[in-house]
Amino acid sequence: TKGEYEHFMLKEIFEQPNTIANTIFSHLSDNDDRIYFEGLEELKKQLSKARRIIIVACGTSWHSGLIGEYLIEELARVPVEVEYASEFRYRNPIVREDDIVLAISQSGETADTLAALRYSKEQGATTFAVCNVYGSSMARECDFTAYTYAGVEIGVASTKAFTAQVAVLTMLAIAMGVENNILDDNRAVALITELRHIPELVEKTLQTDKAIEKIAKEFLDVNSFLYLGRGINFPIALEGALKLKEISYIHAEGYPAAEMKHGPIAMIDESLPTLIVGTNEAFYEKIVSNAQEVKARKGTIVAVVNEGDTELAAMADYVLTVPKVDELLQPILVAIPLHLFSYHIAVMKGCNVDQPRNLAKSVTVE
Ligand code: F6R
Repeated sequence: TKGEYEHFMLKEIFEQPNTIANTIFSHLSDNDDRIYFEGLEELKKQLSKARRIIIVACGTSWHSGLIGEYLIEELARVPVEVEYASEFRYRNPIVREDDIVLAISQSGETADTLAALRYSKEQGATTFAVCNVYGSSMARECDFTAYTYAGVEIGVASTKAFTAQVAVLTMLAIAMGVENNILDDNRAVALITELRHIPELVEKTLQTDKAIEKIAKEFLDVNSFLYLGRGINFPIALEGALKLKEISYIHAEGYPAAEMKHGPIAMIDESLPTLIVGTNEAFYEKIVSNAQEVKARKGTIVAVVNEGDTELAAMADYVLTVPKVDELLQPILVAIPLHLFSYHIAVMKGCNVDQPRNLAKSVTVE
């Protein structure tokens, strides 16, 4: 049931302190910061031999795959390719026996992802699923499965399953990094220690909901929205844009911030607002200069910033704040205001957020 919440989507967003904690602590030992998955020891052997990981997924799960690419390449230095399952399966892709094909899926039943997985299995690759539904087709058919413990997700727009996927991928990347002697123990422990606090920080981020709702109210009449992010937060820009499209029917596009000058900048004027994810430390000045480019064209800026940010916050017309964490852990926190922002816009526009038009929760047809 929806309990005190008006919609399943909102309930599921607010469940995240628990769903993320369940996911993290199901895969982490209490006392020694070791990461566990069923079959992880065997998988690690495969992973250390693997030449590359191919991630296959659709929609929001594909976005978590892109975040997984940043995490695995950064922490474990294993090459990762992220593929739309639908494109992958139909293009005669090259899959080898020393590839690991990782399918990410909330339902474990998405037809294209399942077909991509079956094809990869036929080619002799090791298959691995990150999914949320126990005993689903993908979980049954893969050599290895790491579950996300997000609980049943009813809202068609995926929220809590997404953050749980990112949490699992973060832990997988840390485990691989340690196994491959790329990640030193201190950094691994520091990341895991911070990860343990993520559920509390998600709770804190959720407390900004009323402020987000107020900002959302300013954007009910826009026709289009640009979302920009860099590095590990680029996929979050894609995710924010997808959510806005699917539940509010406002056109939105996510872009890597630096790509703006290769085309989208031509669109910017008073009528096209831009949401900028500006939490990265590494390229902060670059993000600020992207924001200046938007301001110079009279664009309205909604910025997602770390607590304590001054520069970007001062330039932005509206500010969404998240607690400051290691850059690699930011996507989980940044997803929260972006999902809430879309939710409030959609609700105020009178849209059916739990059952957006034309969409099905699980796409089992092709
Ligand atoms: C968007 C959304 C969809 C799903 C996609 C894949 O909010 O929910 O884009 O992410 O249909 O579904 P799963 O993860 O079940 O394979």
